[in-house]
Amino acid sequence: MRDFGVPAEFRDMGHYTPWEDRQVLYHLARVNKPDIIVEVGCYVGMSTIALARACPTATIHCVDTFGGNADDRLGVKNPTETFRAFCDNMGDRLFSTVFPHQGTSRLYGAIWPFLVDFVFIDAGHSYQSCRRDIESWLPRIRPGGILCGHDYCTEFPGVVQAADEIGIDGHSARIWWKRIQ
Ligand SMILES: C[S@@+](CC[C@H](N)C(=O)[O-])C[C@H]1O[C@@H](n2cnc3c(N)ncnc32)[C@H](O)[C@@H]1O
Repeated sequence: MRDFGVPAEFRDMGHYTPWEDRQVLYHLARVNKPDIIVEVGCYVGMSTIALARACPTATIHCVDTFGGNADDRLGVKNPTETFRAFCDNMGDRLFSTVFPHQGTSRLYGAIWPFLVDFVFIDAGHSYQSCRRDIESWLPRIRPGGILCGHDYCTEFPGVVQAADEIGIDGHSARIWWKRIQ
């Protein structure tokens, strides 16, 4: 796979998003040139860095409880520690192009006040949570924008089911995507 300059390694915070997945996410964001991105589930920011490198001038809003995932291998995390690690990892991008929002995807999806160009979902991985995240954010994407997500793979059949139900346009590595009409 072509190297788009997304870091292969990242400080070990008990989580690793494969480099291949970050490369696909990078490419998807780069070719679509979004001005406003929402990332649902950023954890300590590995995928955020891929998005920020792909779209250096875009505004990236990162919605996360920072509490981890009780129902998968990530497990429950200390929100204060996770939030601090995310902020440290963003460096100069923090509050210039990257804006963290602590809370649930459903709450922020319900109150979000403007349309965005690109939404990347990587929060809960059960069918119910992924479906809920898709339903929460689909109405917040402008026509022609992109909805995409992580973990389209056999390990997470609920993610595959929820994504397939909306009729995705494609998937590569473990990234799925759909252009919104
Ligand atoms: C797999 S991690 C995200 C990894 C990140 N996208 C990356 O590739 O580096 C999932 C994140 O989703 C968050 N999360 C889980 N359920 C959530 C919810 N309902 N609303 C907001 N964030 C949630 C967790 O706190 C965790 O930080």
